[in-house]
Amino acid sequence: MFQDSSFSAWPAALKVSGLGALRVGLVGTGVVGSGTCQLLARNADLIAQRVGRPIRLVMAAARDLHKAAQVVGPDVDLVSDPLALVRHPDIDVVVEVMGGVTLAKTLVLEAIAQGKHVVTANKALLAEHGSEIFAAAQTQGVIVAYEGAVAVSIPIIKALREGLAANRIYEVVGIVNGTTNFILTHMQETGMGFDAALRQATALGFAEADPSFDIEGVDAAHKTALLAAIAFGADVPFAQVHAQGITRVEAWDMVCAQALGYRIKLLGVARQRSESIEVRVHPALVPEKHLLAQVQGSMNGIWVNADAAGPTFHYGAGAGSLTTASAVVADLMDVARLASAGLSARVPYRSVQASAIQSWPLLPIGQVASRHYLRFALHERPELLTCLPGWLQSAGVEVQQWAHVRHPENVRQDALVVLTQSLTGDDLANRLKALPQMQGFAAPAAVWRVEDLNSSAM
Ligand code: HSE
Repeated sequence: MFQDSSFSAWPAALKVSGLGALRVGLVGTGVVGSGTCQLLARNADLIAQRVGRPIRLVMAAARDLHKAAQVVGPDVDLVSDPLALVRHPDIDVVVEVMGGVTLAKTLVLEAIAQGKHVVTANKALLAEHGSEIFAAAQTQGVIVAYEGAVAVSIPIIKALREGLAANRIYEVVGIVNGTTNFILTHMQETGMGFDAALRQATALGFAEADPSFDIEGVDAAHKTALLAAIAFGADVPFAQVHAQGITRVEAWDMVCAQALGYRIKLLGVARQRSESIEVRVHPALVPEKHLLAQVQGSMNGIWVNADAAGPTFHYGAGAGSLTTASAVVADLMDVARLASAGLSARVPYRSVQASAIQSWPLLPIGQVASRHYLRFALHERPELLTCLPGWLQSAGVEVQQWAHVRHPENVRQDALVVLTQSLTGDDLANRLKALPQMQGFAAPAAVWRVEDLNSSAM
């Protein structure tokens, strides 16, 4: 089954490399696995023409073999033990699309130890254990490719590692979670609250049965950590990445932010500072004219600011079967082309050679400076409109922009919203501490960061 019996039948052009088919073992036959099978079959000729050798799925591991047989077709060997696949001598490359961390890590490390290349779409695995995995791959001289781990339809890893390779990257700011972007867009468009929008996302199949990684910002933090590692050639300890999700975003804040010319988006921010890096995920106000503010529904968008290319914007689907397969198969094509190249001929995993990887300290979120949005509820007390700006000013909080926003149905929700000068989170909290002494002052009902996205240098 694994012998390349059909090799003699291939067109002459495909024999040039002298290599046989790249033999693929697939671990996981769910949404991404089935898309990968479909794409490998559908575009087999095109793929072979482009890489000079066929890419052939020869074995798959799955829990439900009967179901898996429908996915992979009759010519693929099926096993229930993924370790047997990983250790099989006739597999050149293991595609890990089963998800999860513990078993996936065992399988990926075992595949590497067996001298096999790995293609994975597993962002949690690489964000949390990338250092160990990439080091093992380096030692074994095998490739670990992971374009499918971040914003699947967007070849952002290739863009950062190859297309923008000559640039110093200042910042990468992205909407990298489709579920939360769908929910926020729905809240914005309908005025419904977070819980109702989440139910809608679940009913329409956008949110997973357990959406906690998405709505708590963990999924976006995994992806942002990977992007930061590539952009800055750095080791990014995932435990230090700040992740705040969207569960506390209120539809009313979206209306108030709009009154100031902003939209609220869940952003993954990776920014180089002079002696540290910021890697953080949280809801933030984005100027409504910025391209990131136009990314609607379940789509992803990533804005990269680089010293030579300047700003570039990358847009596409962030999840899905064929959309993820597009990235997985592109990685397989890279493996097919590069497997025989020496280590130095390959693009390094994090954009720099292993010896040059930086250990930039991650700036704690409280020390990250940005403008802030504050919403004060007026509680039917219009006189606060005149007091609040003065109180804030006296505490050292500048009111750079403000709006009085009347709630269409509930006067108790009427708000004064302000944008402050750039302050660190700690600084803002300290300055606001002085205010409760003012009679009638109530702490802001909501505080969110503003991401101005206009810096062109550190
Ligand atoms: N749950 C992820 C999302 C899937 O919503 O973006 C793709 O990683």
